[in-house]
Amino acid sequence: MSNTRLSEEQLNSIRSSVDIVDVISDYVQLKKQGRNYFGLCPFHGENTPSFSVSADKQIFHCFGCGAGGNVFTFLMDIEGYSFLEAAKDLAERGNIALDIQSPDTASQSPQQSASKKMIEAHELLTKFYHHLLANTKEGEPALHYLQERGFSKESIEKFSIGYSLNSWDFVQTFLGKRGFDDDILDQSGIIVSRDDGKRFDRFRNRVMFPIKDHHGDVVAFSGRALGNDEPKYLNSPETAIFNKSKLLFNFHQARAAIRKKQQAVLFEGFADVISSAEAGVDNGVATMGTSLTEEHLSILKRNCEEVLICYDSDNAGFEAANRAAEMIVKSGLTVKVAIMPDGLDPDEYIKKYGANSFMHDVIGDSHTYLSFKMKYLRKGRNMKNEGDRISYIEEVLKEIAKLPNAVEREHYLRQISSEFSLSMDALTEQQKTIFRSEKKRGNLPQTNHRNQVSGLALQYTQQKLHPAHINAELKLLAHMMQDKETAYKIRSLMDGNPFHIDEHQAIVTYLFGFYEENEESDISLFLSYIPDKQLRKVVSQIQMMSVSSEPSDQELKDYVGAVLKQQKMLKIKEKQDNQAEAIRMGDHILAAKIGLEIIQMKSQ
Ligand code: CTP
Ligand code: MN
Repeated sequence: MSNTRLSEEQLNSIRSSVDIVDVISDYVQLKKQGRNYFGLCPFHGENTPSFSVSADKQIFHCFGCGAGGNVFTFLMDIEGYSFLEAAKDLAERGNIALDIQSPDTASQSPQQSASKKMIEAHELLTKFYHHLLANTKEGEPALHYLQERGFSKESIEKFSIGYSLNSWDFVQTFLGKRGFDDDILDQSGIIVSRDDGKRFDRFRNRVMFPIKDHHGDVVAFSGRALGNDEPKYLNSPETAIFNKSKLLFNFHQARAAIRKKQQAVLFEGFADVISSAEAGVDNGVATMGTSLTEEHLSILKRNCEEVLICYDSDNAGFEAANRAAEMIVKSGLTVKVAIMPDGLDPDEYIKKYGANSFMHDVIGDSHTYLSFKMKYLRKGRNMKNEGDRISYIEEVLKEIAKLPNAVEREHYLRQISSEFSLSMDALTEQQKTIFRSEKKRGNLPQTNHRNQVSGLALQYTQQKLHPAHINAELKLLAHMMQDKETAYKIRSLMDGNPFHIDEHQAIVTYLFGFYEENEESDISLFLSYIPDKQLRKVVSQIQMMSVSSEPSDQELKDYVGAVLKQQKMLKIKEKQDNQAEAIRMGDHILAAKIGLEIIQMKSQ
């Protein structure tokens, strides 16, 4: 990491222009707790936050999986960036002009640079398609189609909607002339390459919707037929840059609103996202013609607490909403479900009843999970039939048993009690029985403790889990990293003795290397200096311990004493082993000599 072509000066200006809390907040929902921020770790699955960020020190550490580092290593780990890529990303965020000679192609793998080229082709094509739609005669029918459907000029701009010419090779020639290899165009799915060697433009005479990934880069297209041509939507295939099971349409633009509202609205079609955005939903996303995956869920989970499902109100949509709702509840997020009348989809509803009614009567009047589930369970049952009624009540009680909140449980029990004239006592009793048996079978959802800091994290922070001499080493390391002068003081107290733990000793070695080159302590900078990921983990963990800012000499002596004492104990133990061996061999003179040494060592 130290063989970068960034000057010290550039690095420093980047570092001082960004705050690690802001950067990490783009990926993790952080809550302040005491001096630090906590959230769910993006590097491993968890339901209790053990991921912490220190604004003072500009570092992060996960007490669960041990991940840790500074703002550079965070981006490297989460985005798979090289050091230079991370620096470039941060410079952009901090509005720092970075002048890196020979761009970072050297540090990129062939796949990375191919991906970059593919994105470039998509970006260029987006502009081209949009130009065709907005400004040319060829684009007029498509523009007319969009206007007919009620898409505003603003939406067309905001979502960079375009039009693809009715030609088999226009795009191929257009991009070829601009230096894109055939190979890149085939890999990106923009051009279809048939087994017989024929190559042609994938999208012809369609309204073009660019699909952006979560960084806002265009990675795919969906082209809609103007009339009733089949298929209605033609999508880019899965490529190195386009993964449907991870991508949520419009996530990039909606992220800020999703975090702010702590809610995402989930649609089936991206046309619904666009129409509802116009109606006022700024936190809407959609899957790309696939059902919701665990990967989608984990993205949502990192950004909000509630998902409002707004699927088509036809039969298929109702079933899909039920499946999605179950998955979301199971993940520990809250679910709401918006239901529209007459088999409409959101886009059609808005056109028919207007934006106001949509915001008010659909989004604003969405069902809780249980109230949706009750509606769902009624489907296909005849409530006049006693058997159906009983099985319905059983199913609803099962759902009620899953609710973590007692007030909510009581609310729905009352509802059933009054609707079916059943006593609250009997219903409550039955609900409890179901709860116990479902719990045994492991059918209850995970509870989400996202607001609590895990006990483990706190224990680690207080360092109660280690034996005294290790604890002492950790404290000494913390002090050494915090202050240069203290580091040299401790070094002389240690008097040439190494630390017990190899990793600790390695950190000490790097630390003195760092102090030779740097005037004063800087944890975040020090982390960039350590090439080993495992060591960075240990450093960030130690940094999350709180130590007094100016330790007394006595305090330091005590810690050093604890470390050295343990070393002496180990040496005595070794002597004792030798002595036992001498006795066994019958060498009593040697045994006596060793015994004397042991007494001397113990008396010291
Ligand atoms: N879809 C697809 N391929 C199709 C049909 C649909 O990939 N042949 C995906 C698209 O992502 C679309 C979503 O499924 O956004 C929902 O499909 P549908 O409800 O049929 O489309 P609408 O959103 O209603 O689109 P439109 O209003 O243009 O008919
Ligand atoms: Mn539609």
